[in-house]
Amino acid sequence: MTELPTRILGDGVSVPVLGFGTYPLRGDDGVRAIASALEVGYRLIDSAVNYRNEREVAEAIRASGVDRGDVFVQTKVPGRDHRSAKHSITTSLQVMGLEYLDSVLIHWPNPSQESYVRAWEGLVEAKEAGLVRSIGVSNFTPTYLDEIIAATGVTPASNQIEMHPAFPQVEQRAADAERGIVTQAWSPIGRGAAFDAEPVVTAARAHDVTPAQVVLRWHLHLGSLPLPKSADPERQRGNLEVLGFDLSEAEVDAITALGRPDGRLFGADPDVHEEM
Ligand SMILES: NC(=O)c1ccc[n+]([C@@H]2O[C@H](COP(=O)([O-])OP(=O)(O)OC[C@H]3O[C@@H](n4cnc5c(N)ncnc54)[C@H](OP(=O)(O)O)[C@@H]3O)[C@@H](O)[C@H]2O)c1
Repeated sequence: MTELPTRILGDGVSVPVLGFGTYPLRGDDGVRAIASALEVGYRLIDSAVNYRNEREVAEAIRASGVDRGDVFVQTKVPGRDHRSAKHSITTSLQVMGLEYLDSVLIHWPNPSQESYVRAWEGLVEAKEAGLVRSIGVSNFTPTYLDEIIAATGVTPASNQIEMHPAFPQVEQRAADAERGIVTQAWSPIGRGAAFDAEPVVTAARAHDVTPAQVVLRWHLHLGSLPLPKSADPERQRGNLEVLGFDLSEAEVDAITALGRPDGRLFGADPDVHEEM
């Protein structure tokens, strides 16, 4: 089993350097896939109310035999719950049968609702009440980050954003780092989109690893925390084995240079995307 090192978030909470994405794993197959991820060594499991798999995540932890205390369990508050975020977190805890969550994020800012500050206040209250150890956001641009920080004096520990070689998020990562926020990467391997790109293929050959491993190592080199999803135990294992080699600065830069302004895979611009 691969054991991953951890890093410390701005709020002092320790988190594995790489986690497991669970969308769209559901039902018995979902439980099996998430339990397998825990068995091969993942210790950060990323869920969300909107993935409708919080029950499966909790069941998989129990089925895996891994101590609940050794797993960093993360979920997200959906747009429809912005104005009742603390209640949303209580409901997640009930669904999962857990006493606390390790991390809760606001899933999307949904700016037209004008409720992300209220949602952040709810997360702060939930943390103060001991329901969650670490709080953060997802898909927040610098403008939204600064608004919630100014309103509460509390800086998110994490910001989970779309990030892969076609969309390396250079400016947003710098903005997160300036504020002491760890960037988590969703769709970290771009669902395979970058596997044929020349710098990725060349680095994979040079280090005798897979394109997925190159892309995940690129994330670690840049300091982002990738959350690859795979339902396949062998790919799950491979996606964890990314510490036995390193990329040169030139290899990292060549992969980052694949970025394009229109590189988002899903057209999900946080300023216009609304996810309820
Ligand atoms: N915060 C947000 O708004 C947001 C949005 C989207 C996603 N997320 C989170 O981010 C996680 C990951 O994102 P994602 O699932 O969109 O994309 P991803 O992890 O970049 O890619 C997953 C896809 O790549 C395949 N794959 C995984 N490892 C592979 C490998 N080594 N070789 C070849 N193919 C491989 C998987 O197929 P198999 O399963 O068949 O291996 C799956 O189809 C999600 O599960 C979710 O937790 C968050």
